[in-house]
Amino acid sequence: MITAYDVLMAQNVDEAGIDMILVGDSLGNVVMGYSSTLPVTMEDMIHHTACVVRGTKHALVVGDLPFMSYQESPAKALYNAGRMMKEAQCDAVKFEGGEAVCEAVHKITAAGIPVVGHLGLTPQSVHQLGGFRVQGKEEDTARQLLQDAKALEDAGAFAIVLECVPADLATLLTHSLKKAATIGIGAGNGCDGQVLVCTDLLGMSGGFRPKFSKTYADLHTMITGAVRTYVEDVKNRTFPKKEHTFSMADDVLQAIQK
Ligand code: KIV
Ligand code: NA
Repeated sequence: MITAYDVLMAQNVDEAGIDMILVGDSLGNVVMGYSSTLPVTMEDMIHHTACVVRGTKHALVVGDLPFMSYQESPAKALYNAGRMMKEAQCDAVKFEGGEAVCEAVHKITAAGIPVVGHLGLTPQSVHQLGGFRVQGKEEDTARQLLQDAKALEDAGAFAIVLECVPADLATLLTHSLKKAATIGIGAGNGCDGQVLVCTDLLGMSGGFRPKFSKTYADLHTMITGAVRTYVEDVKNRTFPKKEHTFSMADDVLQAIQK
C-alpha cells in the first residue's frame, strides 16, 4: 500500500502494481502545508480521493476520514463514510481508533462499506499522545492495542494500519487476528502488508524523513536539478531550440512586414 493525493501519482503507482492506494489525511502535511492533519476537511478528502480514483485502474482505493468527521457519533461516521463512497467513488474508508470507534465500524460495514482501522500512533490524537512517538511499549498500552485490534476485527474492519508500534508487538498482534490483515508503517516486517507515504518513498521533500521510511528515489534532487538547468537554459537562450519552435512561410512573413 502507498499513499497518493492526485491523478498523476495514482497513475504512476497503479501502473507499478501496488495493491492498495491510501488517500491519507497526511494530505494536510504533504500537500496542503499544515503542520498536522487536524485542519483537513471532508471536502479536502473527497476532492483528492476523487482525483486518485480517476487515475486508478487496478488498485483498491481507500479514502481516509478526517478529524471530527466520525468521532462525534456513529451516525455521523456513517453519513461521512457514505459521502466518501458516493462522492469520491473509492472502494473503502479508513479512520483512526480502537474500541471507541467500533460502533461506527459496525454501522459502516453493516451498510456495505469496507473499513480499514488505524491503531498505534494515530496522528489525529497527537495532542493527547503528547507527540509523534512509538506506541505500545508498556504492558498496559500493549494490552490495550491488542484489545483494540480484536475489537476492530470483531466490528468488521478488513484491515488495520499499525503505525509506530514495536515490531514484536505488531507481529504478535498480526498472529492474534483471524480475519483482518495488518498493514504496518514503522511496525516491522511481521505485518501482513506495509504502507508508506509516497513522497517519503520517492524522496520528494528536502526536509524531515521519518526513521521508519525508506527513500527509494531522490526526486527532490532530480526536480531541483532539472528546474535549475531550465532556469539557466532560458537565461542563456539555449532553450528553446529549433526543434521546440514553430515556423511560418517566408512569403507570409514578408507580406505582413509591408
Ligand atoms: O494519512 C496517512 O497517510 C496514513 C498512513 C500513514 C497510514 O494514515
Ligand atoms: Na491518516
